[in-house]
Amino acid sequence: MNQDTLTRRGLLIGSAALLAGLPRQSPAQSAGPAIHVMKDPNCGCCSAWIEILQRERFTVTTEASMGTLLMRYKSENGIPQEMTSCHTANVDGYMIEGHVPVADIRRLLDERPEAVGLAVPGMPYGSPGMGPESEREAYDVFLIRRDGSTGLFSRYPAA
Ligand code: CU
Ligand code: CU
Repeated sequence: MNQDTLTRRGLLIGSAALLAGLPRQSPAQSAGPAIHVMKDPNCGCCSAWIEILQRERFTVTTEASMGTLLMRYKSENGIPQEMTSCHTANVDGYMIEGHVPVADIRRLLDERPEAVGLAVPGMPYGSPGMGPESEREAYDVFLIRRDGSTGLFSRYPAA
C-alpha cells in the first residue's frame, strides 16, 4: 500500500465517521432506497406495486424475467417454493417477494435481521398493487430466514 492509498483510506474513514455523526434526514426529505425488481413485463400488478414504491420515493430499476427463469431466480436467492408470488426484488441485500407493503420493507431495512428477506406469498387481494385496501383480504408478511424457515413478520387483517 503506497502513501496515496493510505491517505485516501484515512480520508474515507474520516468522512464516514463524519456522516455517521450527522442528524438523519426525515423520511419525507430523503430519497428512498434503491430496489431492483425482476418481473414479467406482462404483469400489471407488478407495475402497480412498483408505482407505489416510486410514490414512496424508492429508486426502482426493473428487469424482465418470467416463467422458469424467474422461478429459478427465486429459488437461487433463497425464496422457498411456498413463499413465491409474482415479482422478486432485491433491496440492500434483502429479497422482497411479492406484494410486500412499503412499511414492512422500511422496517426490515431499519431492523436489519439476519435473513433472506420478506415475502407475501400468492397475490392477496387488497395488498399493495392488488386492488383497494378497503377491500383487503387478510394476509401475512413472512420473514424468510437463511436456513429456509419462515416466521411471521407482520399481519394485515381483513379490511
Ligand atoms: Cu402480483
Ligand atoms: Cu408482481
